[in-house]
Amino acid sequence: AQDTSTPQWRPVYHFTPVKNWTNDPNGLIYINGIYHLYYQHNPFENKWGHMSWGHATSRDLLHWQHLPVAIPEKEGKDTTTWIFSGSAVLDATNTSGFGKNAIVAIYTADQPKQKKESQFIAYSNDGGLTYTNYAGNPVIDIQRPDFRDPSVIRVGDKWVMTVAVPDDRKVQFYGSADLKKWELLSEFSKQGDNRKIWECPSLTPIFVDGDSTKKKWLLMVSSGNPDAATGMQYFTGDFDGKTFKNDNPADVQLFVDYGTTFYAAIPYNNLPGHTQTMLGWLMPFETGTYPWRGQMSIPRDLMLKTTSSGIRLYQQPAAVLNASLDKLPAAKKVFKKNVTVSGELALKGINSNSYWIDATFTPGTASSFGFVVAGEKIGYDIASKNLYISTRVSSTKVNRKDTGAVSGEKIRIQVLFDKSSLEVFVNGGEMVYTTLLFPGKDDTGISIYADRGNVKVDSLRIWDLGK
Ligand code: FRU
Repeated sequence: AQDTSTPQWRPVYHFTPVKNWTNDPNGLIYINGIYHLYYQHNPFENKWGHMSWGHATSRDLLHWQHLPVAIPEKEGKDTTTWIFSGSAVLDATNTSGFGKNAIVAIYTADQPKQKKESQFIAYSNDGGLTYTNYAGNPVIDIQRPDFRDPSVIRVGDKWVMTVAVPDDRKVQFYGSADLKKWELLSEFSKQGDNRKIWECPSLTPIFVDGDSTKKKWLLMVSSGNPDAATGMQYFTGDFDGKTFKNDNPADVQLFVDYGTTFYAAIPYNNLPGHTQTMLGWLMPFETGTYPWRGQMSIPRDLMLKTTSSGIRLYQQPAAVLNASLDKLPAAKKVFKKNVTVSGELALKGINSNSYWIDATFTPGTASSFGFVVAGEKIGYDIASKNLYISTRVSSTKVNRKDTGAVSGEKIRIQVLFDKSSLEVFVNGGEMVYTTLLFPGKDDTGISIYADRGNVKVDSLRIWDLGK
């Protein structure tokens, strides 16, 4: 195991625990101007185990305050209860009887000795700092070893839970008036991509093209990327309070992210207005970080847009983050317009490995173009219309990963690089690619390149978020 400190790979504008392991974000909820982030956490070691809910809060989704573990594992004589993934709701009208404005966490109790997973609830009357487990737990038990990740939202006058039966590639929907008694509403299974188990589902209403007369439901499931590596898929459809009806034929596969690390994302509950924002976990690669392992993605706004292939998910770094970018001093911003590049153009003025790039290109004669970031290429290939990431495996070998096709007269590429995480949004989030990079000491700087010809950079904005 890695036990040498790796501060050079600690993200600056993404969440990491101060120390030890994290996986999934849990219980994402916005209350009174504060974004709560609970997360799967091993409070004792830098590897998975002793699962508990860690806790942090933020006012801007950029700076996080670290708080004590909110829901710890329970070690009993005969039963170990690990606190697996789940969600949190604000019970504003005290439907549960746990108190007005109680925060209620709905999570999976994983009991390895009993080979069982069931759904538990716990409530907080101190603004989410500490939780009391409900004495009547479990609230749903179907006698299975794999039954997890309840995501609860308010739909009309009831609570609706979406929860996974992973091995069956199945999602179940339950309804409740009081968060304690749950009734099975329907099931949704074996559609889309069934190559891997299904975990961490969520159901979210979204106005298509921002039009309040065109509501659709986004069902996301953590199951795999197009290559059956780490990733997530989604479905769009209608939900009548009981049943989810897929817009597309059962064999249509739609993916949230084309990289190899974005997983277990769930949306925030209780956001004002109609914004929907999710956070995902970036599953760590074998390359070790220390004294923490695992990080969250950039918070992403979710949009559904009408395209020629149907309604599709678009993602953008959360709009609330723009305020923090705007506030940066001029010395931390590099803005340019109308630059033609052939070969490689090194950009001056960015002195950290934590930055955010937003560029729009008009393709010229080059066969491909893009950025060199920390020595690795992020490019767009004109002929195949693919975004590609090529990383150096050794001095002679590069590993090139291509995404699905994206096209347009202009290509917009947003690159969020933060010490060891890379998130690339193409054409306003039509396609997103997330991965991890572990740059060496000399792998700094940004350049724009154009292979075998030129490209026009219509506009380029870079924000240096490094300390
Ligand atoms: C997904 C997951 C969830 C589970 C949690 C346990 O990464 O496997 O299904 O609740 O992690 O840590």
